[in-house]
Amino acid sequence: MDFSSYKPKGKIGHKHLLNLLDYSAADIYEILHLAQSLKSAMRRGKKHELLKGKTLAMIFSKSSTRTRVSFEMGMHQLGGHSLFLSSNDIQLGRGETIADTARVLSRYGIDGVMIRTFLQSDVEELAEYGTFSVINGLTDDFHPCQALADIFTVAENYGHLNGVKLAYFGDGNNMAHSLMLAGAKTGMNVYICSPKGYEPDQAITEAAQKFGSVTVTDSVEEAAAGADVLYTDVFFSMGQAKDPKKEAALMPYQVNPTVLEMANKDAVFMHCLPAHRGEEVTESVIDSTRSVVFEEAENRLHVQKAIMCLLMGKK
Ligand code: CP
Ligand code: NVA
Repeated sequence: MDFSSYKPKGKIGHKHLLNLLDYSAADIYEILHLAQSLKSAMRRGKKHELLKGKTLAMIFSKSSTRTRVSFEMGMHQLGGHSLFLSSNDIQLGRGETIADTARVLSRYGIDGVMIRTFLQSDVEELAEYGTFSVINGLTDDFHPCQALADIFTVAENYGHLNGVKLAYFGDGNNMAHSLMLAGAKTGMNVYICSPKGYEPDQAITEAAQKFGSVTVTDSVEEAAAGADVLYTDVFFSMGQAKDPKKEAALMPYQVNPTVLEMANKDAVFMHCLPAHRGEEVTESVIDSTRSVVFEEAENRLHVQKAIMCLLMGKK
């Protein structure tokens, strides 16, 4: 079944979004369909205060522009309230445990916590000890909200997801992992093209391959040939030190006009942002008419609103 023919039921059987491993295609389609209707309501200026009286706390241990602003604005548009908690300003940054933080936030009537941090295990621990819904806003291993906004953008462009070839170039990082899972579960044909030594995690790759079509290759030609979507991300993720050896290994995986030429003639370019022009992508590609990076950034808002409604709204 494809996204385009799925009939939404308006609910999913989850309390949290920790990663996409335990989400079915139907769960993902529910999110995408609701995102579509919230986006259209917003365009028509129609009020949609589906989370009136609800509060989302947002814990950030890493920087953010898109995630912070889209969650904050999303909560505001849904009639709810959000709290920005930088880990430098709360006791978590001085060594208070995740478990104690979760128990305390639970006592104040918090309905959801969005957390951006380093360890995936911290996100899981927060969910274990809190009474609220937990949403992963990026860890070293996953970035599920971004990947869902990305495939929503693909569906908007192509009208369907089944069989769409998405080729990711560069570091086998959190984005590569989440795109593999989101793409495989929704019938896309995902290629992760990384140099030797910088491939995605093997266990996550094998898990994704059980759900659908995921190929890991070091051949740019193989990945780009016939691709509908060309995707890349930074050489150095947050928390990683610059390393000339890694930069040299990743440079041949840059998305540039030569790579664009190998793809389908109507292929789109995607990037989660922030981007480093001249490193993972050339200015001539990211600033071209083929680039949909700002649609992707906007879609973070609509998709996260849908996620929050499905996890934190009335059951
Ligand atoms: N793509 C993304 O998550 O952007 P921010 O780091 O600005 O939140
Ligand atoms: N891989 C990048 C994604 C940023 C949205 C990072 O983790 O920094």
